[in-house]
Amino acid sequence: MKFSISSLAAGLSAVGQVAAAPCPTHPRPIRQIELGPRPYYLVNNMTDGPLKSKLQSCTETNMRASKWSIGHRGGAPLQFPEHSKESNMAGARMGAGVLECDVSFTKDRELVCRHSQCDLHTTTHIVARPELNAKCTQPFKPAANGKPASAICCTSDITLAEFKTLCAKMDSSNVTATTPKDYLGGTPNWRTDLYATCGTVMEHKEHIAMVEALGLHHTPELKAPLVKMPFQGNYTQQMYAQQFIDNYKTAGVPASRVLSQSFEYGDILYWLKSEPDFGDNAVLLDKSGDTPEAYAGAVKNLTMYARDGVKTVAPPLHYLVESNNGTMEPSAYAKRANELGLKIITWSLERSGPLAAVHAQGDYYYTSVRDLVKTDGDMYTLIDVLYRGANVAGVFSDWSATVTFYANCFKVGLF
Ligand SMILES: *[C@@H]1O[C@H](CO)[C@@H](O)[C@H](O)[C@H]1NC(C)=O
Ligand SMILES: *[C@@H]1O[C@H](CO)[C@@H](O)[C@H](O)[C@H]1NC(C)=O
Ligand SMILES: *[C@@H]1O[C@H](CO)[C@@H](O)[C@H](O)[C@H]1NC(C)=O
Ligand SMILES: *[C@@H]1O[C@H](CO)[C@@H](O)[C@H](O)[C@H]1NC(C)=O
Ligand SMILES: *[C@@H]1O[C@H](CO)[C@@H](O)[C@H](O)[C@H]1NC(C)=O
Repeated sequence: MKFSISSLAAGLSAVGQVAAAPCPTHPRPIRQIELGPRPYYLVNNMTDGPLKSKLQSCTETNMRASKWSIGHRGGAPLQFPEHSKESNMAGARMGAGVLECDVSFTKDRELVCRHSQCDLHTTTHIVARPELNAKCTQPFKPAANGKPASAICCTSDITLAEFKTLCAKMDSSNVTATTPKDYLGGTPNWRTDLYATCGTVMEHKEHIAMVEALGLHHTPELKAPLVKMPFQGNYTQQMYAQQFIDNYKTAGVPASRVLSQSFEYGDILYWLKSEPDFGDNAVLLDKSGDTPEAYAGAVKNLTMYARDGVKTVAPPLHYLVESNNGTMEPSAYAKRANELGLKIITWSLERSGPLAAVHAQGDYYYTSVRDLVKTDGDMYTLIDVLYRGANVAGVFSDWSATVTFYANCFKVGLF
């Protein structure tokens, strides 16, 4: 348990100060990109060879932001609470040229940044706020009689004003917890609670204003509703998908700087038809090929997506690479998408912890190449096959520096 009562209290009083501020101040564009030690540590850990030599030749380069470096959940959730303003600012400092807001709606139909409509119980302190916990779909239940502690708290349970009083924390829960305070624990030991001191939660409009002020690009994701639609009887999926685009139009952001994502094919088709400029840049997220049988179907379906006008597909990392006689190579999915002229974006690097543990225990993002990744330096082998083999147009990362470094060395998407 790394979260103490005193830091919770400090966090809650900090919320009061934020709420009292008349209007948020916007950051200025970041000129001094800082990658920190991690990329250099990873390069040093690579096996000797041409790729390592190439990357070593770039270690004294002045770094720039890159559109190829996409900040997942802000760009720094390896160490900062996801979707907090602080995660976004850390991602931008590490050269992410595109910042992500996963979008969900509140009870009063305002759009906010959260990875899931119903993850407030693991990504904020909501269960430790009795008046808000009481509004949760399922308020906190302590572990008892061999049953794990649980809670389900959704953005649609509370208003925007209530949402803004929450503190963002690292995504975790403690299933043995008997108190709300203990339920907030459980951050994996390769992440950290060092910056989970009451992260600033963001609404979609604030995220847009921040990214504009930074002069970067946007990648919002329309998260699947976890409540029955139409919500409250008359808020339809199309109204939700339209409101999401309208937030950019109102802010005067051109469609060319917005990569709108969704896993729902219907959302992509809706944007292609109703908002063609935004539709042109829309990204179809694809997790339809997780099993070997389904994978073949996912590759086949690329033809249909291209025919329907989809321009960009975004599968997880492991769909794009395969292990071939001890070598990492581009996969059938990657080859087919390229043949069809589809752009590829992929997710998400730096979510898996140390690669030695991935090799030993397996991990979703490395499913197809588990045998080939043994030490952390192998991450750059994967990035290199994604870029030079699979022709990937952008990589989401939980620690933007890792991807930004490669992008600078190979001069990809630099601002
Ligand atoms: C989890 O909760 C239990 C019971 O409340 C507590 O004893 C333990 O310290 C907590 N662990 C973490 C990692 O927070
Ligand atoms: C990379 O790191 C691992 C784990 O610390 C270590 O066992 C391995 O020897 C390192 N490899 C190189 C080439 O430095
Ligand atoms: C939607 O339904 C709510 C009641 O749930 C009502 O107050 C509101 O006026 C309706 N809005 C529209 C656009 O029909
Ligand atoms: C491929 O598309 C068909 C038709 O839309 C759909 O039924 C099927 O689930 C898709 N398969 C995969 C693997 O996505
Ligand atoms: C597999 O790799 C080994 C050594 O790396 C090589 O000797 C062998 O010919 C390769 N086999 C095939 C089928 O490519």
